[in-house]
This record gives sequence, C-alpha cells and structure tokens, in this order.
Amino acid sequence: MPGKIHKIGTFSDWVGLFNEWRKEVGVDHDQIKDFKFDTLYGAIETEEITFGYYKGRNKWENMRQIPTQNMRDALMNLIVYQGDTEFASVEQQRWLFESAPSDYDRSCLTRVMIEEMRHGWQMCALLIDFFGDTGKVEAKKMLDRRAYENKRLLGSFNEECDNWLDFFAFTDFVDRDGKFQLQMLKYSAFAPLGRSMSYMLKEEAFHMGTGNTGLARIAEAGVVPGWLMQKYLNKWLSSSYDLFGTDNSSSAQWAYTWGLKGRYDEPANPHAANLEDLNDYNRHLYRDECAILIKRISNAQKAGSTPLYCPDIKFNRNIGRWKQQFFHPQTGQQMEEKEYRAELDSWMPNAADKKLLMDIIGAEKKWIAPRLGGRDPLVTIGEVRKNAINAVQ
Ligand SMILES: [Fe+2]
Ligand SMILES: [Fe+2]
Repeated sequence: MPGKIHKIGTFSDWVGLFNEWRKEVGVDHDQIKDFKFDTLYGAIETEEITFGYYKGRNKWENMRQIPTQNMRDALMNLIVYQGDTEFASVEQQRWLFESAPSDYDRSCLTRVMIEEMRHGWQMCALLIDFFGDTGKVEAKKMLDRRAYENKRLLGSFNEECDNWLDFFAFTDFVDRDGKFQLQMLKYSAFAPLGRSMSYMLKEEAFHMGTGNTGLARIAEAGVVPGWLMQKYLNKWLSSSYDLFGTDNSSSAQWAYTWGLKGRYDEPANPHAANLEDLNDYNRHLYRDECAILIKRISNAQKAGSTPLYCPDIKFNRNIGRWKQQFFHPQTGQQMEEKEYRAELDSWMPNAADKKLLMDIIGAEKKWIAPRLGGRDPLVTIGEVRKNAINAVQ
C-alpha cells in the first residue's frame, strides 16, 4: 500500500501502523479512537521459576538472562500466537456494531474490542521492547495478517462471527480458551510476560461474562430454538478444543520444560506434569469448566425445553488424536463415516440455519432478554486499571 512503512524502528512507528490498521478494518469509532491505549503490567505471585528445568531460579527479566536461543525463539512464538488472536478477534467482530440488540450490548462490544486491541498492543510492546529486530518484524506482521483473508494463525480466528449469537458464543468459549492460555503464560519464567498476563486476565473476565450472560439471555427469551443454539455451541466449542493444540506436542513439552508456559492449574497441582499430554490435560480442564456453564445456560430455558449440552471432546476435531474421526457430539460414541455424515447437518449450523437465525434476529425484537442492572461497561472500563502496577493513578 503506498505510503505504508515497510519496517518499524520504534514503538511509536508501530503505534502509527496500529492507528492505520484500526481505520482499515473499520473499527475507528469515536469511543475507540478516544481510548488511551497503553502497556500495563500486573503483579505476579512469585519472582521464582516454579516448574520445569530451571525451577527455583529467579525469573528472567530480559533476553540476555534466557539461557539459549531456542528458548528465546519458543518464547517469541508464544507471544506472536497470543497477539495474533487479539487483533484477529477484532477483525472478526467488526460488523456487529450495527446489529447490537441494545445500547448496553453495543457498549459491551466496544469495550471487548478496546481490550482485545490493548492485548494485541501489549504483546507487540513485548516484542519490540525485548526481541530486537526480529520482534519488530513480528509486531509489524501482526497488523498485516487479516482474519477475513484467512491469514490469522489459528483456525477459530479465521471463522466468521457476524451475528450476536456467534458473538456471545465466541466471547464465552473462545475468549475462555484465551483465559486458559493467559493463565498458563502467567506462570512464565519470563517475568514481563507473566506481569502482562496477570493484568490481561482481569480484562478478559469481562469478555467471558458478556458471552455467558448473553447466551443465558437468549436461552431465557426462548425465541431462538434450543436446537439452533446447540448447533452454535457445537461449532464454537469444537473449534475451541482445537485451540489447545495437538496431543503429544513437542513444542508444548519444551515450553513446559523451559518454564515458559505452565499447566492451567500449575500452582495448585501437586503432581508432576505428564509432558506427553500437556495440551490435552488443559483441554479437559477447559471442557469441564464449559460443561458447568452450559448447564447454567440450559437452566435459563423455559421449563420442559430440551437441555443444552457441552459437545464431547472428540467431536468435530481437526487436530489431535481424534482428528477427522467420527464421534457423536452428545454421547461421544464412535460412528460409521456414512452415518456421521448423514447426521452432521443436524449438529452443526448450515446455510439454512444461518438464514433462520438472521431472520429471527431481524424480525423479533424480543429474541434476547434484556440485561437487567448492568452498569455501562464503558464507564467501568477504567476500574480494572487500578490493578496495574505501572499505571499512573
Ligand atoms: Fe484478549
Ligand atoms: Fe477477550
């Protein structure tokens, strides 16, 4: 693109590109433009490495303290993947402003977007501040890829998210995968990453709350049929399972051994990690949490409705040991391919389902129950900042 710089030298060069990117993807609304983005750090529980080969030593504060180049490369990769998801989700959600069910919901969307952009900003600040020229190149590439060109690094972040049922399912379940990833990186031996995560997690809580109450409000209204909701749950949960990565992943093993990324329940888990199975271990903890939430959403439905369920961990998987095999979403039973394919349409949203959903959303004002007692999320957005250890109060 003419006039666009090809290389960045400083963080303020990157900020220039970030401002351009907001305009280009179409999210430069006033409230977003006026927001003061900055790099924020929160407190970490310990300055000592708590797992892996370097356990007991001091956490690292800069690149020179990290023992090997392989470790520095793996660390950078974790940060790049994290940052990529943040900008991607903004690209995926950019069309939702006009169709917001209420002013309150529009403010929620604005806040979610602002915070995701800040998360991407935070990851780029780490890349630029700590990783030299390669970090600068990666920080720039983060704003070059586009979800709507299928260029984002992870599958769920190239999927369409163009209606408010998608949005609520996305923020409840894909952002919840985000929470799991942030929590695992919070224990990192690289202290600036841990401090970034502990702060970002506080912001992330709002996103998941938005998604979860949104889905409960749809269930409560009872206008979108339960079977249709179930299809969207199946879509987003099965793709979220994939986000945890392959089983027996060697990069997960190294990330753990080197102390870069812990298990989700690392400080509370008294058992030695099974290095062969780290991703799947975390994936199961994630599914357990989602299953409880779906029960609650299901309870919001009218009496006598068919209960909603959390799809089986083997259903519709595109990576890992269950990849492209055929399992029933509710029972987890293995099926013949032919039988599975014949039923797949009744489990996953198809074009007709989407049309039906859009018709309902377009015609029925009461497709979602109102949010009672919610405070304006753009007024409370600053509250979480009080937890930052480097913020100007
Ligand atoms: Fe985020
Ligand atoms: Fe989020």
